[in-house]
Amino acid sequence: MVTASAPGKFILFGEHAVVYGKTAVAVAMDRRFACSVAYSDENTLNGKPVSFEKHPYIYHMLQKHGMDNTAVDTVSDIPAGSGLGSSAALSVSFSAAIRALKGMSTEEKDIAEDAFDTEYSVQGRASPADTSTCTHGSGISINGPGNGGLWSISRNGNVWHIADAYVPEMTIVVGHTGIHAATGPLVERVRKFRDKNGFAYDIVNEIGDIALHGIDLMRKNDITGIGELMTKNHKLLSILGVSCSELNKLVNAALPYSYGAKLTGAGGGGSMIALTDEPDKVCEAISKHGGTPFVVKTAQPGVVIKNI
Ligand code: MEV
Repeated sequence: MVTASAPGKFILFGEHAVVYGKTAVAVAMDRRFACSVAYSDENTLNGKPVSFEKHPYIYHMLQKHGMDNTAVDTVSDIPAGSGLGSSAALSVSFSAAIRALKGMSTEEKDIAEDAFDTEYSVQGRASPADTSTCTHGSGISINGPGNGGLWSISRNGNVWHIADAYVPEMTIVVGHTGIHAATGPLVERVRKFRDKNGFAYDIVNEIGDIALHGIDLMRKNDITGIGELMTKNHKLLSILGVSCSELNKLVNAALPYSYGAKLTGAGGGGSMIALTDEPDKVCEAISKHGGTPFVVKTAQPGVVIKNI
């Protein structure tokens, strides 16, 4: 049996714009998805048959690796559909475990590519931001200044250069709306808006520029500047139509005690993040406004594999 685990993530800057090859920054957090695989008589997930409708990511991975005899068991403390990388952490931990079981390469680059392939096939248009963060851990930039670093992935005319990013010490509070939001339809909505509307096209570019500026501020440990950019990023995402009243409520509740706040991930529900020195006050404000808060620890390891 092989067990692998991968962290969840939050996007600090640049979600949606990164799908079109713009810059983004994503950070791993202290919630993990673990996946165990072992040879068996048939494919099962947590003791039940695997179906494409209910388990598209696992189903796709098993097909892709030509497996019809694998028992898969999963456990996770990343809320699903929360914008916190649960599907990416699943794809990464599964890819790592199955590759180790089959004696294939378990280099980070190969796992990240494999997991991205699954996200892309299941979700439709996607970027490798989530899967690369969950593989590498710590923090990454995508198409940051100077580009190079860890690996590059290309698809559909876009190229994403993944690099390790310096992440200053920051206290981040996540506020989960409790609303499950699938990434695919939200990405598709932004794509249609951007394709038809020059204004939306410019907004997407502006989000990429914010991420580029954010990387510079991170290097300078400019927490005030990072917070201001986060709030600006949230406003632009709202204009793109991926926020919702629940997310706006939590962002507004957190702002009086924060350097900045924004939705994180695809939006439409899911979660927001706040950068703060007063985590207790932010947690209280988020709870009061119907969200579920938790304080995040950064500087987390990426994928970890154990042969048992
Ligand atoms: C989801 O965490 C981030 C999006 O930019 C989609 C993607 O990058 O694949 C919305």
